[in-house]
Amino acid sequence: MKRYAVILAAGKGSRMKSQDENISKISFPILGVPLVRYVIESLLPLNFEHLIAVIGHGGKTSEAIVKDYCEVVWQREQKGAGHAVMMTAPILKDLKGETLITCGDTPLMTDETMRGLIETHEANHNDLTIMTMVLDNPYGYGRIVKDDQGNVLRICEQKDTTDLEKDIKEVNAGVYVFDNEELFESLGHLTTNNAAGEYYLTDVIGLFVKKGLKVGTHVVSDIQETLGVNDRSQLAEAAHILKRRINRKHMLNGVSIEDPENTYIAPNVTIGPDTIIKPGTHIYGETTIGIGNVLGPDTYLENVSVGNHNIIAYSHLVDTVVHNRTTLGPFLRTRGHVEIMDEAHIGNFNELKATKFGTKAKCAHLSYLGDAEIGEAVNVGCGTITANYDGINKHHTSIGENSFIGCGTTLVAPVTIEKDSFIAAGSTITENLEKGDFAIARARQVTKKNYARKILDKAAKK
Ligand code: UD1
Ligand code: CA
Repeated sequence: MKRYAVILAAGKGSRMKSQDENISKISFPILGVPLVRYVIESLLPLNFEHLIAVIGHGGKTSEAIVKDYCEVVWQREQKGAGHAVMMTAPILKDLKGETLITCGDTPLMTDETMRGLIETHEANHNDLTIMTMVLDNPYGYGRIVKDDQGNVLRICEQKDTTDLEKDIKEVNAGVYVFDNEELFESLGHLTTNNAAGEYYLTDVIGLFVKKGLKVGTHVVSDIQETLGVNDRSQLAEAAHILKRRINRKHMLNGVSIEDPENTYIAPNVTIGPDTIIKPGTHIYGETTIGIGNVLGPDTYLENVSVGNHNIIAYSHLVDTVVHNRTTLGPFLRTRGHVEIMDEAHIGNFNELKATKFGTKAKCAHLSYLGDAEIGEAVNVGCGTITANYDGINKHHTSIGENSFIGCGTTLVAPVTIEKDSFIAAGSTITENLEKGDFAIARARQVTKKNYARKILDKAAKK
């Protein structure tokens, strides 16, 4: 059986109450990842012949998010989910097989649940299988209307429900598997004769029943999975559940998370066992973390590769590679293209950008290193600044191994300090040093004997 899938993601998302026309609902991030990506990730393992995303409102934003994974189809005017599926006709209409349709706004659905739906559909030889759930409070969802024998008759939307139907607790999760040819045949008969004036996809169900086609349901017990993100409160709820799910996975893999409620880890992050994560830590993007690290408290990592046995506290690292056994922070900030080699120590209030920081090198406090290469075992004194920017261009600073940079040194780039050099504290270095050189570049001190008293007395008389 050939399988196809359609993600409906063109809707206005009016309940998100966004003022920005370019924002689509499916682009709202959860743990730094647009929510539709969770839907895509649940479908990719199922290997569909076609995986199509229908986009429309805020479509340019949506397109950029989905185009690497899905074929993109535009629904220029949002006339309902049924109409959105009609837009896929040029690709799907005449194909034999089955089509799974899901919403772009249900990020909690897992691939196992999707697979379960397909299995029910195929095992029962259905023409249509609807994923349903039983809710204590079914408000807002389409109700599954059945006859006395329990056969599905139709789906009734919230806006169109009568008092009787309001009591129905089995609802539509918004995921279906259709026989593809019958689907497109029925779409041709949809009308906008309902409270919303839209082409409801859910009306196709009634049409299938009228035609005598076999319609079944697949009830999911974990109702969390079917949560739809229609407003920002549901967005926060989905984010909370995903956060817990991800943290639990890492803990079961041997990662200690001291306070899982206050730890935020993006879905694609990998973490090795015996790493300890302290509260207030955020790990986003394509970050990989090895074994035996201590991260946090209050640390932010985005697109960072961390090796093994590092200690990183109260720091903010972006686009950075950290090798092994380093100690970083408290309060280190890296702004991208930074590589920190084995056993380096970078202490409090340092900022690094486009810098390679050598093995066993030290920078204990209060420095800025930009566009620089710091060699092995270099000691960068407190308050060292690479003056890398002349107002127009950025320039490079290179410091060779075993060099000692005294406190308060300004290195005016471009400048090269060869290995084993020594720079006296307070120097402003504008010229290169060769191997083993010593440089002192500051005005000589003037000391006037007992002059302090005179100045103070003068001041007192005023
Ligand atoms: C929908 C179902 C409802 C179900 C619920 C489950 C319909 C009519 N109703 O309601 O039975 O219980 O999901 O979460 O389907 N869309 C488009 N183009 C449009 C309109 C909508 O692509 O013109 C997309 C939306 O982006 C969304 C999906 O269709 O992904 C469903 O639309 P939404 O407005 O969220 O429907 P619900 O009210 O949640
Ligand atoms: Ca929805």
